[in-house]
Amino acid sequence: MNPIERLNERQRLAGLGGGEARLKKQHDQGKLTARERMTRLFDPGTFEEVDQLVTHRCVDFGMEEQIVPGDGVVTGHGRIHGRVACAFAQDFTVFGGSLSETNAAKICKVMDMAVRIGAPIIGLNDSGGARIQEGVVSLGGYSDIFLRNTLASGVVPQISAIMGPCAGGAVYSPAITDFIVMVKQTSYMFVTGPDVIKTVTHEDVTKEDLGGAMTHNEKSGVAHFAADDDAECIALIRELLSFMPGNNLDDPPRAATEDPPDRDDEALDSLVPAAPNQPYDMLDLIHTIADDGYFLEAHQHYAKNIIVGFARLGGRPVGVVANQPAFLAGTLDINASVKGARFVRFCDAFNIPLITFEDVPGFLPGTVQEYGGIIRHGAKLLYAFAEATVPKITVITRKAYGGAYCVMSSKHIRTDFNYAWPSAEIAVMGAEGAVNILYKREIEKAADPAATRAQKMAEFRERFASPYVAAERGYIDEVILPRHTRGKLVQALATLDHKRDKNPPKKHGNIPL
Ligand code: HXC
Repeated sequence: MNPIERLNERQRLAGLGGGEARLKKQHDQGKLTARERMTRLFDPGTFEEVDQLVTHRCVDFGMEEQIVPGDGVVTGHGRIHGRVACAFAQDFTVFGGSLSETNAAKICKVMDMAVRIGAPIIGLNDSGGARIQEGVVSLGGYSDIFLRNTLASGVVPQISAIMGPCAGGAVYSPAITDFIVMVKQTSYMFVTGPDVIKTVTHEDVTKEDLGGAMTHNEKSGVAHFAADDDAECIALIRELLSFMPGNNLDDPPRAATEDPPDRDDEALDSLVPAAPNQPYDMLDLIHTIADDGYFLEAHQHYAKNIIVGFARLGGRPVGVVANQPAFLAGTLDINASVKGARFVRFCDAFNIPLITFEDVPGFLPGTVQEYGGIIRHGAKLLYAFAEATVPKITVITRKAYGGAYCVMSSKHIRTDFNYAWPSAEIAVMGAEGAVNILYKREIEKAADPAATRAQKMAEFRERFASPYVAAERGYIDEVILPRHTRGKLVQALATLDHKRDKNPPKKHGNIPL
């Protein structure tokens, strides 16, 4: 073989992965191969593979006879929407995509490159875990990756796709990353599988119920998105990246839009129902004000009492955090607080302005919440909003009661613009609760207690169930007509374009984990 033929032959072998039969099995399961995934992830013709010829060095268990160039992971870089990104894709056709010493080194190499060049890192996971033949060396490889995930956190966006098995300690790499997308039916994540669970706790559970895409999207909140198949999963990752900068020193990319920045929508004037406890769908507001009505919701199936996701306003990407009165009356509970806090911190780390839509009657009462540590978890959301230095804008549509008023990006925790609709009710608590405490004796002694209570409630509502006490204090910058919300937000974002704010120097804060 001449030198060129030798190169061609090595590349051909690498391209074959674990061989025709295993590639076919991958396809028969409805999965794309690692290289097909990478080709789709990057803009056409831009994927550059590195370390294609790397091989393992294991000589135990007959491994020296089984050498596949690339060793079970495809790594490289390319462009996504024209911007540089780095990625790795575990190749299940080669030793089940299991992690070897060299395989881990390849992953670390692209992660290091991503941090050095300020590009996002995307991990496509499909692996049987630690390469059993390599033992502790493989575990060392995982640890090397976990360290890099941690150090890269807040420096470059990290996105994980789970497109097959991801079990044992291997789950902790995706868990540290910013977003996890899981493919329905073909992926699962768990720390210990059904067999071990059966032995230890005698519970019977299938892989899908234990760690499938919907389990982690609905129940555990470990995953942020569920895709129907590999193609949708990869398209989602590309979409998600369109809202993010390449790194923490860049601004998110602006997109051109035909949607007029000052577009009014009169329907918003009647969005909030007249009855204070009647629900409405906060998503209607978000879709109405966003450029082209487009909102990419994250964690859609988890803690639905808070909404988080990305939109654009006048072409600028924003992170939206909103109470959802249509679910649990929009109360803040443990899951909603943690969901919101993590999203706020992501946006703050990557210079994405935060828009908060508020309609919150308070924290969810109950022993489940108190014993579960709502104090600690609720504090996470407060901490996250308070430490955030990106442009912050809040719109109170209806209720802003008690501690939840403070938490939801109030003026007092450095929010730049606080708007309220005329329907806003900003108070320590609702009229009924307040009157029952303040006028307890008076009501008991009254000739007609019900009438006295009703009269006191009406007085309380007149004085406090409005935005005006807060506006008189300057806690609300402006009471706006709902129809003008989009125009106000676009204008406010433009004003805040060059906002500079910082926190006191410190090693790091101590968010109440
Ligand atoms: C080496 C592995 C492997 C592994 C799979 N293979 N997992 N090789 N190390 N961990 C190989 C198989 O031998 C097989 O080779 C090929 O990959 C495909 O595997 P199958 O079992 O045929 O596939 P499937 O039926 O789809 O089952 C997939 C699976 C199963 C559920 C993932 O392979 C499995 O249970 N693997 C072991 C999982 C595991 O216990 N891993 C260690 C976890 S502990 P051939 O040649 O037949 O194609 C861990 C610790 C991480 O990962 C710690 C981090 C801190």
